[in-house]
Amino acid sequence: MCGITGYIGCKQATPELLRALKKLEYRGYDSAGIAVLNGSRITVRKMKGALGVLERKIAEEAIPGTLGIGHTRWATHGEPSDTNAHPHTNLSGNIAVIHNGIIENYGVLKEWLQARGVVFRSQTDTEVIVHLIDFYYNAAAIAPIGIPGTDLFLRAVLEALGRIEGSYGLAVIARDFPDRIIAARKDSPLIVGLGDGENLLASDVPALLDHTREVYYLGEREVAVLYRDHVDLFTDQGERVIRPSSHVDWDAQAAEKGGYAHFMLKEIHEQPRAFTDTLRPRLKIADGTPDINFDEIGLDASWADAPRIVITACGTAWHAGMVGKYAFEHFARIPVETDIASEYRYRNPVFNPRDLFIVISQSGETADTLAAMRLAKQKGARILAITNAVGSTLARESDLVLYTWAGPEIGVASTKAFTTQLMCVYLLALKLARLRGLLDGRAYRDALTSLQAIPAQAQKILENTAAIQRFAAGHFNKGKVFFIGRQFDYAVSLESALKLKEISYTHSEAFAAGELKHGPIALVDRDTLVVALATQTALFDKIASNIQETAARGAASLVITWEGEHRFDKIAGEIFTIPRTDDPFSPLLSIIPAQLFAYYCAVLRGNDPDKPRNLAKSVTVE
Ligand code: M6R
Repeated sequence: MCGITGYIGCKQATPELLRALKKLEYRGYDSAGIAVLNGSRITVRKMKGALGVLERKIAEEAIPGTLGIGHTRWATHGEPSDTNAHPHTNLSGNIAVIHNGIIENYGVLKEWLQARGVVFRSQTDTEVIVHLIDFYYNAAAIAPIGIPGTDLFLRAVLEALGRIEGSYGLAVIARDFPDRIIAARKDSPLIVGLGDGENLLASDVPALLDHTREVYYLGEREVAVLYRDHVDLFTDQGERVIRPSSHVDWDAQAAEKGGYAHFMLKEIHEQPRAFTDTLRPRLKIADGTPDINFDEIGLDASWADAPRIVITACGTAWHAGMVGKYAFEHFARIPVETDIASEYRYRNPVFNPRDLFIVISQSGETADTLAAMRLAKQKGARILAITNAVGSTLARESDLVLYTWAGPEIGVASTKAFTTQLMCVYLLALKLARLRGLLDGRAYRDALTSLQAIPAQAQKILENTAAIQRFAAGHFNKGKVFFIGRQFDYAVSLESALKLKEISYTHSEAFAAGELKHGPIALVDRDTLVVALATQTALFDKIASNIQETAARGAASLVITWEGEHRFDKIAGEIFTIPRTDDPFSPLLSIIPAQLFAYYCAVLRGNDPDKPRNLAKSVTVE
């Protein structure tokens, strides 16, 4: 995925574009570029490397102009290079395009354009867009084509969009139309910010918050034309769209680092607050008894009768789904199938329209997750989305939406989005259990009381980061790190291993502890660290044996277990304890030391945890 932005107003565009790109840099940092329109010409500056490289270049030579577009790239087609960086222009340099997504039929379109004399300069799929627009622009200038009632520029863009297959969030400027930016989206997020005497464009909300909190979330196949003083919306068939804008509740401060060295660390520390924000609107006290109120999603008894729950998601969100599998089965006694979205979408799954289909996604824009959701919808499923992104495609296309209310998550490695997804899952599991008559009043009240204690317990863990920091200092150079656990602890092991590998680049894996002896134990040696998640009291003896088996083969170990628990004192290399909650709720707390461990290992290894190599925050392409 890439980050795209646009500015049209009275201020100089360049600083505004660079400021917005800084906020979008987490979406890609292979190269960056801007195009600014200054009356009679479009000036493009684009460079391989992080945004800072481009900023230094621009500082040497200012680019005047009050209208422009900007891009930060995560390469899909064509290596990171100056040439492949966006914006891309047509041969005469009077049209410039930035794009996030993948043009699937770019090979065919490229040949078609080459046969008409177009010379390509980059290896990107995006370059076909600008040449297509140029082609239709010139064709329409000679003889009117296509959609009546639109001007030459808009008509050319719409004609080009009609030829493109794949996904796009894109923005176009043209020298002959110095009063507007045209933007369009399909399967790739794009938001228009409505300012005062200025209008803006961005792939994500934080890039707009310095200017405005009034936005249009562009819909599928919607096109926006941004002028200084207003914005027109169209379908990709050129029909006018009239609809109200949306208000964003986040403030600009929520999207800043706030004194922390990295967004990831800030977001780890925001978890107590995020838990409270997720819980508070859903917990209602009626007659002195707490209850879960899901009026917001209209969850009724018919949902509780679902014969099966199917959960799909990717990456960290899939791990939340794995916790969901254990939680729904434990509390609500409904069979659960949790599948990776990229597998589910191609699986020809067996399907019952009465199944409850839960889709989890922080961004609500992950391509594989959306495809799995659409497949289920096509087959008649009821879709419940758990997402952090208001106005996202997932939120708009689902039947019910449960927002995680984690606030903006900028760090590529997901932390507070994960734990708030878990909180939503537990609330749902308890509510379904109650609706199914499986929890009596007392057990229900006790469970909710435990959940209410979680924010303070998370805070307590965060006050002991020094212990994790010391542990990371002792082990950040290990060749292999294996996370092991059983049941809920296995799900947390999966997430812990992902966190560590994605930001520290350490080879880390998760194993269901009982599986070790069926193969993985062959890998264990003196260069191995084993982190054992040990919070499932009924399985203490089992996990204790697994720790001993790995210690006997030279592995160092860290055991994460309950405060006051001494079962592992004699066998663990080191122990980190977390405040005691009910065993099934342990993932809400036990993941926090693992997140911190990953963070400190990454920093000690000299990596930037906010910008892990080869990764992007939200994968809007397949
Ligand atoms: O936005 P989503 O929750 O759909 O994203 C899914 C994954 O791409 C995401 O969780 C990814 O695994 C993160 N890098 C994990 O830290």
